[in-house]
Amino acid sequence: MTDDRFPDATVHFGVFLQGVNHTTIWSDATSGSQIDFETFRRVAATAERGLFDAFFLGDGQRLREQDGKILDLDIAGRPDSITQLAALAGLTRHIGLVATQNITYNEPADLARKLAGLDLLSGGRAGWNAVTTDNAWTGANFRRGGFADHAQRYERAGAFVETARAIWDSWSDSAIASSSHGSDWLIPGSVRTVERDDQHFQVSITPTLPRSPQGHPVIFQAGDSSDGRDFAAAHAEVIFSRHGTHVDQALEFADDIRARLRAAGRPEDDIKILPGTQIVLAEKESEVPEKVRWVLENQVTGPTALSLVGQIWGKDLSDRDPDGPLPAEDPVSKPISETRGTPRHGRDPIEIARDWRELAEAKNLSLRQVAIETSQRSGFAGTPGQVADELTRWVRRGASDGFNISPYLVPTGLDEIVDWLIPELQERHSYRTEYTGSTLREHLGLRAPLTRRVTAPDVDMGARRTGKGPSSSAN
Ligand SMILES: Cc1cc2nc3c(=O)[nH]c(=O)nc-3n(C[C@H](O)[C@H](O)[C@H](O)COP(=O)(O)O)c2cc1C
Repeated sequence: MTDDRFPDATVHFGVFLQGVNHTTIWSDATSGSQIDFETFRRVAATAERGLFDAFFLGDGQRLREQDGKILDLDIAGRPDSITQLAALAGLTRHIGLVATQNITYNEPADLARKLAGLDLLSGGRAGWNAVTTDNAWTGANFRRGGFADHAQRYERAGAFVETARAIWDSWSDSAIASSSHGSDWLIPGSVRTVERDDQHFQVSITPTLPRSPQGHPVIFQAGDSSDGRDFAAAHAEVIFSRHGTHVDQALEFADDIRARLRAAGRPEDDIKILPGTQIVLAEKESEVPEKVRWVLENQVTGPTALSLVGQIWGKDLSDRDPDGPLPAEDPVSKPISETRGTPRHGRDPIEIARDWRELAEAKNLSLRQVAIETSQRSGFAGTPGQVADELTRWVRRGASDGFNISPYLVPTGLDEIVDWLIPELQERHSYRTEYTGSTLREHLGLRAPLTRRVTAPDVDMGARRTGKGPSSSAN
Protein backbone atom coordinates (compact mmCIF):
# COMPACT_ATOMS: atom_id res chain seq x y z
CA MET A 1 0.00 0.00 0.00
CA THR A 2 1.30 3.41 -0.86
CA ASP A 3 -0.11 6.85 -0.27
CA ASP A 4 1.76 8.26 -3.27
CA ARG A 5 -0.60 10.46 -5.24
CA PHE A 6 2.14 11.36 -7.71
CA PRO A 7 4.29 8.23 -8.09
CA ASP A 8 6.53 9.74 -10.79
CA ALA A 9 7.11 13.10 -9.11
CA THR A 10 10.69 14.32 -8.84
CA VAL A 11 12.30 16.68 -6.34
CA HIS A 12 13.11 20.27 -7.40
CA PHE A 13 15.76 22.14 -5.45
CA GLY A 14 16.46 25.81 -4.97
CA VAL A 15 19.17 27.24 -2.75
CA PHE A 16 18.17 30.18 -0.57
CA LEU A 17 21.31 31.97 0.49
CA GLN A 18 20.10 33.87 3.50
CA GLY A 19 22.96 35.98 4.78
CA VAL A 20 23.78 36.56 8.41
CA ASN A 21 20.93 35.59 10.71
CA HIS A 22 20.30 32.71 13.05
CA THR A 23 20.16 30.11 10.28
CA THR A 24 23.60 30.73 8.89
CA ILE A 25 26.51 29.85 11.12
CA TRP A 26 28.82 32.74 10.41
CA SER A 27 30.95 32.86 13.56
CA ASP A 28 32.47 29.39 13.18
CA ALA A 29 36.01 28.97 11.89
CA THR A 30 34.71 26.91 8.95
CA SER A 31 32.52 29.79 7.72
CA GLY A 32 33.69 31.94 4.86
CA SER A 33 32.86 35.52 4.01
CA GLN A 34 29.16 36.29 4.07
CA ILE A 35 29.52 39.17 1.60
CA ASP A 36 32.34 38.48 -0.88
CA PHE A 37 31.08 37.87 -4.40
CA GLU A 38 33.28 34.75 -4.51
CA THR A 39 31.03 33.21 -1.83
CA PHE A 40 27.96 33.66 -4.01
CA ARG A 41 29.75 32.45 -7.11
CA ARG A 42 30.86 29.33 -5.30
CA VAL A 43 27.40 28.49 -3.93
CA ALA A 44 25.80 29.08 -7.35
CA ALA A 45 28.43 26.86 -9.01
CA THR A 46 27.84 24.07 -6.46
CA ALA A 47 24.07 24.33 -6.93
CA GLU A 48 24.50 24.15 -10.69
CA ARG A 49 26.78 21.13 -10.31
CA GLY A 50 23.93 19.63 -8.28
CA LEU A 51 21.44 20.38 -11.12
CA PHE A 52 19.38 22.73 -8.92
CA ASP A 53 16.48 24.60 -10.46
CA ALA A 54 17.20 27.93 -8.82
CA PHE A 55 19.52 30.17 -6.86
CA PHE A 56 17.34 32.38 -4.69
CA LEU A 57 18.01 35.64 -2.83
CA GLY A 58 15.79 37.43 -0.30
CA ASP A 59 15.49 41.16 0.07
CA GLY A 60 15.53 43.63 2.90
CA GLN A 61 15.68 47.35 2.31
CA ARG A 62 16.27 48.37 5.88
CA LEU A 63 18.09 46.86 8.85
CA ARG A 64 15.87 45.81 11.69
CA GLU A 65 16.23 47.71 14.95
CA GLN A 66 14.95 47.63 18.43
CA ASP A 67 14.81 50.75 20.59
CA GLY A 68 17.11 52.52 18.15
CA LYS A 69 19.72 49.74 18.19
CA ILE A 70 20.37 47.82 14.98
CA LEU A 71 19.75 44.11 15.43
CA ASP A 72 22.84 42.09 14.85
CA LEU A 73 20.97 39.29 13.11
CA ASP A 74 20.01 40.66 9.77
CA ILE A 75 20.85 40.43 6.13
CA ALA A 76 23.60 42.97 6.20
CA GLY A 77 26.12 44.06 3.63
CA ARG A 78 24.21 42.71 0.66
CA PRO A 79 23.87 44.29 -2.77
CA ASP A 80 20.42 44.38 -4.30
CA SER A 81 19.45 40.90 -5.48
CA ILE A 82 18.94 41.82 -9.16
CA THR A 83 22.42 43.35 -9.30
CA GLN A 84 23.93 40.32 -7.65
CA LEU A 85 22.08 37.84 -9.87
CA ALA A 86 23.01 39.78 -13.01
CA ALA A 87 26.65 39.25 -12.08
CA LEU A 88 26.00 35.54 -11.47
CA ALA A 89 24.15 35.22 -14.78
CA GLY A 90 27.48 35.66 -16.57
CA LEU A 91 29.13 32.89 -14.56
CA THR A 92 26.41 30.24 -14.72
CA ARG A 93 24.70 28.55 -17.67
CA HIS A 94 21.68 26.65 -16.45
CA ILE A 95 20.50 27.56 -12.98
CA GLY A 96 17.51 29.85 -12.46
CA LEU A 97 18.18 33.18 -10.73
CA VAL A 98 15.37 34.33 -8.45
CA ALA A 99 15.31 37.85 -7.03
CA THR A 100 13.06 38.83 -4.14
CA GLN A 101 11.76 42.33 -4.85
CA ASN A 102 9.03 43.98 -2.88
CA ILE A 103 5.86 45.30 -4.42
CA THR A 104 4.92 47.83 -1.79
CA TYR A 105 7.84 50.18 -2.39
CA ASN A 106 8.51 49.69 -6.10
CA GLU A 107 6.81 50.85 -9.29
CA PRO A 108 5.79 48.41 -12.06
CA ALA A 109 7.49 50.15 -15.01
CA ASP A 110 10.84 50.25 -13.27
CA LEU A 111 10.81 46.83 -11.58
CA ALA A 112 9.30 44.94 -14.55
CA ARG A 113 12.05 46.41 -16.76
CA LYS A 114 14.86 45.41 -14.38
CA LEU A 115 13.50 41.87 -14.06
CA ALA A 116 13.00 41.58 -17.82
CA GLY A 117 16.62 42.71 -18.20
CA LEU A 118 17.82 39.92 -15.92
CA ASP A 119 15.62 37.47 -17.82
CA LEU A 120 17.03 38.50 -21.20
CA LEU A 121 20.65 38.60 -20.05
CA SER A 122 20.39 35.15 -18.50
CA GLY A 123 18.65 33.55 -21.48
CA GLY A 124 15.31 33.09 -19.69
CA ARG A 125 16.51 32.08 -16.23
CA ALA A 126 15.03 34.86 -14.08
CA GLY A 127 12.43 34.55 -11.36
CA TRP A 128 10.75 37.21 -9.23
CA ASN A 129 9.75 36.49 -5.63
CA ALA A 130 6.98 39.07 -5.38
CA VAL A 131 6.66 39.97 -1.70
CA THR A 132 4.55 42.64 -0.05
CA THR A 133 6.99 43.20 2.86
CA ASP A 134 5.59 43.35 6.36
CA ASN A 135 8.25 45.77 7.51
CA ALA A 136 6.42 48.98 8.35
CA TRP A 137 9.61 50.88 9.01
CA THR A 138 10.87 50.22 5.47
CA GLY A 139 8.41 52.92 4.36
CA ALA A 140 10.57 55.53 6.03
CA ASN A 141 13.15 54.96 3.29
CA PHE A 142 10.64 56.37 0.86
CA ARG A 143 9.09 59.08 3.04
CA ARG A 144 5.71 57.60 2.32
CA GLY A 145 4.58 58.97 5.66
CA GLY A 146 2.56 55.90 6.50
CA PHE A 147 2.16 52.27 5.75
CA ALA A 148 -0.54 50.46 3.83
CA ASP A 149 -2.33 47.80 5.86
CA HIS A 150 -2.17 44.10 5.03
CA ALA A 151 -5.26 43.95 2.76
CA GLN A 152 -4.28 47.12 0.87
CA ARG A 153 -0.78 45.78 0.28
CA TYR A 154 -2.20 42.65 -1.35
CA GLU A 155 -4.66 44.71 -3.44
CA ARG A 156 -1.79 46.80 -4.73
CA ALA A 157 0.22 43.61 -5.24
CA GLY A 158 -2.46 42.18 -7.54
CA ALA A 159 -2.62 45.38 -9.59
CA PHE A 160 1.18 45.52 -9.69
CA VAL A 161 1.61 41.99 -11.04
CA GLU A 162 -1.13 42.51 -13.64
CA THR A 163 0.70 45.61 -14.82
CA ALA A 164 4.09 43.88 -14.82
CA ARG A 165 2.63 41.05 -16.91
CA ALA A 166 1.11 43.50 -19.36
CA ILE A 167 4.54 45.14 -19.67
CA TRP A 168 6.22 41.81 -20.32
CA ASP A 169 3.56 40.87 -22.85
CA SER A 170 3.64 44.17 -24.69
CA TRP A 171 6.14 43.04 -27.33
CA SER A 172 4.77 40.39 -29.63
CA ASP A 173 7.01 37.34 -30.04
CA SER A 174 7.84 38.39 -33.58
CA ALA A 175 8.53 42.05 -32.79
CA ILE A 176 12.14 42.04 -33.94
CA ALA A 177 13.18 41.33 -37.53
CA SER A 178 14.73 37.89 -37.71
CA SER A 179 17.38 38.85 -40.30
CA SER A 180 19.24 41.87 -41.54
CA HIS A 181 17.20 41.65 -44.77
CA GLY A 182 14.10 42.88 -43.00
CA SER A 183 12.99 46.39 -43.84
CA ASP A 184 12.39 47.28 -40.20
CA TRP A 185 14.36 46.30 -37.10
CA LEU A 186 11.20 46.60 -35.03
CA ILE A 187 8.10 45.37 -36.87
CA PRO A 188 5.53 48.23 -36.93
CA GLY A 189 2.57 47.63 -34.61
CA SER A 190 4.37 44.97 -32.59
CA VAL A 191 4.88 46.96 -29.39
CA ARG A 192 1.86 47.94 -27.38
CA THR A 193 1.52 50.72 -24.86
CA VAL A 194 0.26 49.65 -21.44
CA GLU A 195 -2.35 51.98 -20.03
CA ARG A 196 -3.61 51.75 -16.51
CA ASP A 197 -5.60 54.27 -14.57
CA ASP A 198 -7.00 53.20 -11.22
CA GLN A 199 -6.44 53.88 -7.55
CA HIS A 200 -3.12 52.05 -7.60
CA PHE A 201 -1.44 53.07 -10.82
CA GLN A 202 -1.94 55.85 -13.29
CA VAL A 203 0.56 54.91 -15.97
CA SER A 204 1.14 54.93 -19.70
CA ILE A 205 4.12 52.71 -20.43
CA THR A 206 5.72 51.81 -23.74
CA PRO A 207 8.07 49.05 -22.63
CA THR A 208 11.62 48.90 -23.92
CA LEU A 209 12.39 45.18 -23.86
CA PRO A 210 11.35 42.15 -25.91
CA ARG A 211 10.22 38.91 -24.32
CA SER A 212 12.83 36.45 -23.09
CA PRO A 213 13.13 32.79 -24.15
CA GLN A 214 10.81 31.84 -21.26
CA GLY A 215 8.29 34.60 -22.04
CA HIS A 216 8.76 36.47 -18.81
CA PRO A 217 10.33 35.92 -15.38
CA VAL A 218 8.75 33.12 -13.33
CA ILE A 219 6.63 34.65 -10.56
CA PHE A 220 7.28 33.35 -7.05
CA GLN A 221 5.22 34.28 -3.98
CA ALA A 222 6.01 34.12 -0.25
CA GLY A 223 3.30 35.05 2.22
CA ASP A 224 1.17 32.68 4.22
CA SER A 225 -2.05 34.56 5.09
CA SER A 226 -5.33 33.85 3.34
CA ASP A 227 -4.86 37.05 1.27
CA GLY A 228 -1.33 35.92 0.45
CA ARG A 229 -2.54 32.50 -0.68
CA ASP A 230 -5.30 34.03 -2.84
CA PHE A 231 -2.72 36.35 -4.37
CA ALA A 232 -0.61 33.26 -5.16
CA ALA A 233 -3.57 31.39 -6.67
CA ALA A 234 -4.32 34.35 -8.94
CA HIS A 235 -0.78 35.30 -9.97
CA ALA A 236 2.04 33.04 -8.83
CA GLU A 237 3.80 30.14 -10.54
CA VAL A 238 5.87 29.03 -7.54
CA ILE A 239 5.26 29.42 -3.79
CA PHE A 240 8.18 29.72 -1.42
CA SER A 241 6.32 28.37 1.60
CA ARG A 242 6.94 28.13 5.31
CA HIS A 243 5.71 24.53 5.48
CA GLY A 244 8.89 22.51 5.24
CA THR A 245 9.01 20.39 8.38
CA HIS A 246 5.83 18.41 9.09
CA VAL A 247 4.49 16.48 6.16
CA ASP A 248 0.88 16.67 7.37
CA GLN A 249 1.01 20.48 7.61
CA ALA A 250 2.68 20.66 4.21
CA LEU A 251 -0.05 18.47 2.73
CA GLU A 252 -2.76 20.61 4.27
CA PHE A 253 -1.11 23.71 2.82
CA ALA A 254 -0.69 22.13 -0.63
CA ASP A 255 -4.33 20.95 -0.64
CA ASP A 256 -5.44 24.46 0.33
CA ILE A 257 -3.44 25.94 -2.55
CA ARG A 258 -4.84 23.34 -4.99
CA ALA A 259 -8.38 24.30 -3.91
CA ARG A 260 -7.63 28.01 -4.35
CA LEU A 261 -6.18 27.30 -7.82
CA ARG A 262 -9.34 25.45 -8.83
CA ALA A 263 -11.42 28.36 -7.57
CA ALA A 264 -9.29 30.74 -9.65
CA GLY A 265 -9.89 28.60 -12.75
CA ARG A 266 -6.35 27.25 -12.96
CA PRO A 267 -5.19 23.62 -13.07
CA GLU A 268 -4.17 22.14 -9.71
CA ASP A 269 -0.57 21.67 -10.79
CA ASP A 270 -0.18 25.23 -12.07
CA ILE A 271 1.86 26.26 -9.02
CA LYS A 272 4.98 24.54 -7.77
CA ILE A 273 5.44 24.61 -4.00
CA LEU A 274 8.98 24.86 -2.63
CA PRO A 275 9.07 25.14 1.17
CA GLY A 276 12.10 26.72 2.77
CA THR A 277 14.07 24.07 4.59
CA GLN A 278 17.36 23.06 6.13
CA ILE A 279 19.02 19.69 5.59
CA VAL A 280 21.55 18.21 8.02
CA LEU A 281 23.34 15.10 6.79
CA ALA A 282 25.68 12.66 8.51
CA GLU A 283 27.27 9.64 6.89
CA LYS A 284 26.30 7.28 9.74
CA GLU A 285 22.98 7.18 11.56
CA SER A 286 24.77 7.25 14.91
CA GLU A 287 26.36 10.61 14.01
CA VAL A 288 23.09 12.40 13.17
CA PRO A 289 22.05 13.64 16.67
CA GLU A 290 25.50 15.06 17.36
CA LYS A 291 25.57 16.90 14.03
CA VAL A 292 22.09 18.34 14.59
CA ARG A 293 23.18 19.51 18.04
CA TRP A 294 26.33 21.11 16.63
CA VAL A 295 24.32 23.02 14.04
CA LEU A 296 21.80 24.31 16.59
CA GLU A 297 24.41 25.30 19.18
CA ASN A 298 26.30 27.25 16.55
CA GLN A 299 23.22 28.86 15.06
CA VAL A 300 22.03 30.14 18.43
CA THR A 301 25.09 31.39 20.30
CA GLY A 302 24.75 33.18 23.68
CA PRO A 303 24.52 36.71 22.15
CA THR A 304 22.15 35.43 19.45
CA ALA A 305 19.90 33.88 22.10
CA LEU A 306 19.82 37.17 24.04
CA SER A 307 18.94 39.04 20.86
CA LEU A 308 16.16 36.60 19.89
CA VAL A 309 14.62 36.58 23.35
CA GLY A 310 15.10 40.38 23.61
CA GLN A 311 13.01 40.82 20.44
CA ILE A 312 10.11 39.04 22.10
CA TRP A 313 10.58 40.84 25.42
CA GLY A 314 10.79 44.18 23.60
CA LYS A 315 13.98 45.21 25.34
CA ASP A 316 17.75 44.99 25.18
CA LEU A 317 18.83 41.90 27.16
CA SER A 318 22.46 41.93 26.04
CA ASP A 319 23.72 42.35 29.61
CA ARG A 320 21.90 39.22 30.85
CA ASP A 321 23.35 35.75 31.25
CA PRO A 322 22.27 33.50 28.35
CA ASP A 323 22.83 30.45 30.54
CA GLY A 324 20.55 31.89 33.24
CA PRO A 325 16.74 31.83 33.29
CA LEU A 326 14.30 33.72 31.05
CA PRO A 327 13.62 37.28 32.28
CA ALA A 328 11.35 37.31 35.33
CA GLU A 329 9.50 40.41 34.12
CA ASP A 330 6.82 40.31 31.41
CA PRO A 331 7.57 41.47 27.85
CA VAL A 332 6.85 45.03 26.86
CA SER A 333 4.20 44.82 24.17
CA LYS A 334 4.83 47.37 21.44
CA PRO A 335 3.10 47.95 18.12
CA ILE A 336 5.04 46.70 15.11
CA SER A 337 5.65 50.28 13.95
CA GLU A 338 7.77 50.83 17.04
CA THR A 339 9.44 47.48 17.26
CA ARG A 340 10.80 47.82 13.72
CA GLY A 341 11.27 44.22 12.83
CA THR A 342 10.46 42.18 15.88
CA PRO A 343 9.58 38.74 14.57
CA ARG A 344 6.47 36.78 15.51
CA HIS A 345 4.58 40.06 15.79
CA GLY A 346 1.44 38.20 14.79
CA ARG A 347 1.30 36.73 18.31
CA ASP A 348 1.08 38.58 21.57
CA PRO A 349 4.56 38.61 23.21
CA ILE A 350 2.98 37.99 26.63
CA GLU A 351 1.42 34.80 25.29
CA ILE A 352 4.75 33.74 23.77
CA ALA A 353 6.52 34.44 27.07
CA ARG A 354 4.00 32.28 28.90
CA ASP A 355 4.57 29.37 26.51
CA TRP A 356 8.32 29.74 26.76
CA ARG A 357 8.25 29.84 30.56
CA GLU A 358 6.20 26.65 30.60
CA LEU A 359 8.69 25.02 28.25
CA ALA A 360 11.65 26.18 30.38
CA GLU A 361 10.05 24.83 33.53
CA ALA A 362 9.01 21.51 32.03
CA LYS A 363 12.45 20.79 30.59
CA ASN A 364 14.57 22.81 33.01
CA LEU A 365 15.98 25.02 30.24
CA SER A 366 18.13 28.13 30.35
CA LEU A 367 17.31 31.25 28.29
CA ARG A 368 19.68 30.06 25.55
CA GLN A 369 18.27 26.54 25.56
CA VAL A 370 14.76 27.96 25.15
CA ALA A 371 15.98 30.07 22.23
CA ILE A 372 17.53 26.95 20.68
CA GLU A 373 14.35 24.91 21.12
CA THR A 374 12.01 27.58 19.80
CA SER A 375 14.07 28.78 16.87
CA GLN A 376 14.83 25.31 15.54
CA ARG A 377 15.06 25.61 11.80
CA SER A 378 12.58 23.59 9.90
CA GLY A 379 13.96 20.68 8.00
CA PHE A 380 15.36 17.22 7.61
CA ALA A 381 18.18 15.37 9.32
CA GLY A 382 19.54 11.89 8.72
CA THR A 383 21.86 9.86 6.55
CA PRO A 384 21.75 10.75 2.84
CA GLY A 385 19.67 7.64 2.17
CA GLN A 386 17.15 8.42 4.92
CA VAL A 387 16.73 12.03 3.80
CA ALA A 388 16.44 10.96 0.14
CA ASP A 389 13.60 8.57 1.13
CA GLU A 390 11.85 11.31 3.09
CA LEU A 391 12.11 13.98 0.36
CA THR A 392 10.94 11.52 -2.28
CA ARG A 393 7.98 10.65 -0.07
CA TRP A 394 7.05 14.32 0.28
CA VAL A 395 6.87 15.03 -3.43
CA ARG A 396 5.14 11.74 -4.24
CA ARG A 397 2.48 12.35 -1.62
CA GLY A 398 1.93 15.87 -3.03
CA ALA A 399 3.15 17.75 0.05
CA SER A 400 5.48 19.87 -2.08
CA ASP A 401 7.30 19.89 -5.42
CA GLY A 402 10.71 20.26 -3.87
CA PHE A 403 12.55 22.48 -1.42
CA ASN A 404 14.31 25.81 -1.17
CA ILE A 405 17.34 24.83 0.92
CA SER A 406 19.11 27.25 3.24
CA PRO A 407 22.62 25.95 3.86
CA TYR A 408 23.67 26.45 7.48
CA LEU A 409 27.28 26.94 6.43
CA VAL A 410 28.36 29.43 3.79
CA PRO A 411 29.89 28.83 1.30
CA THR A 412 30.43 25.09 1.87
CA GLY A 413 26.96 24.09 3.09
CA LEU A 414 25.70 22.70 -0.20
CA ASP A 415 28.68 20.42 -0.78
CA GLU A 416 27.34 17.47 1.22
CA ILE A 417 23.90 17.87 -0.30
CA VAL A 418 25.28 17.78 -3.83
CA ASP A 419 27.86 15.05 -3.18
CA TRP A 420 25.88 12.75 -0.87
CA LEU A 421 22.15 13.41 -1.17
CA ILE A 422 21.66 13.98 -4.87
CA PRO A 423 23.16 10.61 -5.96
CA GLU A 424 20.76 8.92 -3.49
CA LEU A 425 17.81 10.81 -4.98
CA GLN A 426 18.94 9.92 -8.49
CA GLU A 427 19.14 6.26 -7.50
CA ARG A 428 15.48 6.52 -6.46
CA HIS A 429 14.64 8.16 -9.84
CA SER A 430 13.39 11.19 -7.97
CA TYR A 431 15.95 13.71 -9.22
CA ARG A 432 17.10 14.78 -12.67
CA THR A 433 20.39 13.43 -14.00
CA GLU A 434 20.95 16.36 -16.35
CA TYR A 435 19.35 19.68 -17.25
CA THR A 436 16.91 18.95 -20.07
CA GLY A 437 15.76 22.55 -20.65
CA SER A 438 17.49 25.89 -20.68
CA THR A 439 15.02 28.19 -18.89
CA LEU A 440 13.87 28.34 -15.28
CA ARG A 441 10.31 27.72 -16.46
CA GLU A 442 11.48 24.50 -18.15
CA HIS A 443 13.48 23.35 -15.12
CA LEU A 444 10.41 23.74 -12.93
CA GLY A 445 8.15 21.99 -15.45
CA LEU A 446 5.87 25.03 -15.70
CA ARG A 447 3.53 25.70 -18.57
CA ALA A 448 3.77 28.78 -20.78
CA PRO A 449 3.19 32.10 -19.03
CA LEU A 450 -0.34 32.51 -17.73
CA THR A 451 -1.39 35.40 -19.93
CA ARG A 452 -0.22 33.77 -23.14
CA ARG A 453 -1.86 30.50 -22.25
CA VAL A 454 -5.35 31.42 -21.23
CA THR A 455 -6.17 34.62 -23.08
CA ALA A 456 -6.32 35.98 -26.54
CA PRO A 457 -2.90 37.44 -27.42
CA ASP A 458 -3.98 41.05 -27.17
CA VAL A 459 -5.90 40.96 -23.92
CA ASP A 460 -4.42 41.02 -20.46
CA MET A 461 -5.71 38.28 -18.18
CA GLY A 462 -6.37 40.63 -15.28
CA ALA A 463 -8.41 42.86 -17.53
CA ARG A 464 -10.46 39.92 -18.76
CA ARG A 465 -11.10 38.36 -15.40
CA THR A 466 -11.90 41.48 -13.42
CA GLY A 467 -13.14 43.78 -16.11
CA LYS A 468 -10.43 46.22 -15.00
CA GLY A 469 -6.68 46.16 -15.19
CA PRO A 470 -4.30 47.32 -17.84
CA SER A 471 -5.31 47.78 -21.43
CA SER A 472 -2.95 47.92 -24.36
CA SER A 473 -2.84 49.80 -27.60
CA ALA A 474 -0.56 48.96 -30.51
CA ASN A 475 2.29 51.33 -31.32
C1 LIG B 1 9.10 32.15 3.29
C2 LIG B 1 8.94 33.65 3.26
C3 LIG B 1 10.00 34.46 2.81
C4 LIG B 1 9.88 35.86 2.77
N1 LIG B 1 10.93 36.61 2.31
C5 LIG B 1 10.83 37.97 2.31
C6 LIG B 1 11.91 38.80 1.86
O1 LIG B 1 12.98 38.33 1.49
N2 LIG B 1 11.74 40.15 1.89
C7 LIG B 1 10.58 40.74 2.30
O2 LIG B 1 10.50 41.95 2.29
N3 LIG B 1 9.54 39.98 2.74
C8 LIG B 1 9.64 38.63 2.75
N4 LIG B 1 8.58 37.86 3.19
C9 LIG B 1 7.42 38.55 3.80
C10 LIG B 1 6.27 38.76 2.86
O3 LIG B 1 6.64 39.80 2.01
C11 LIG B 1 4.99 39.22 3.56
O4 LIG B 1 5.09 40.59 3.81
C12 LIG B 1 4.73 38.62 4.90
O5 LIG B 1 4.88 37.23 4.86
C13 LIG B 1 3.32 39.01 5.35
O6 LIG B 1 2.36 38.50 4.48
P1 LIG B 1 1.44 37.28 4.92
O7 LIG B 1 0.65 37.80 6.07
O8 LIG B 1 0.62 36.95 3.72
O9 LIG B 1 2.35 36.15 5.34
C14 LIG B 1 8.68 36.46 3.22
C15 LIG B 1 7.63 35.65 3.67
C16 LIG B 1 7.74 34.27 3.68
C17 LIG B 1 6.57 33.43 4.15
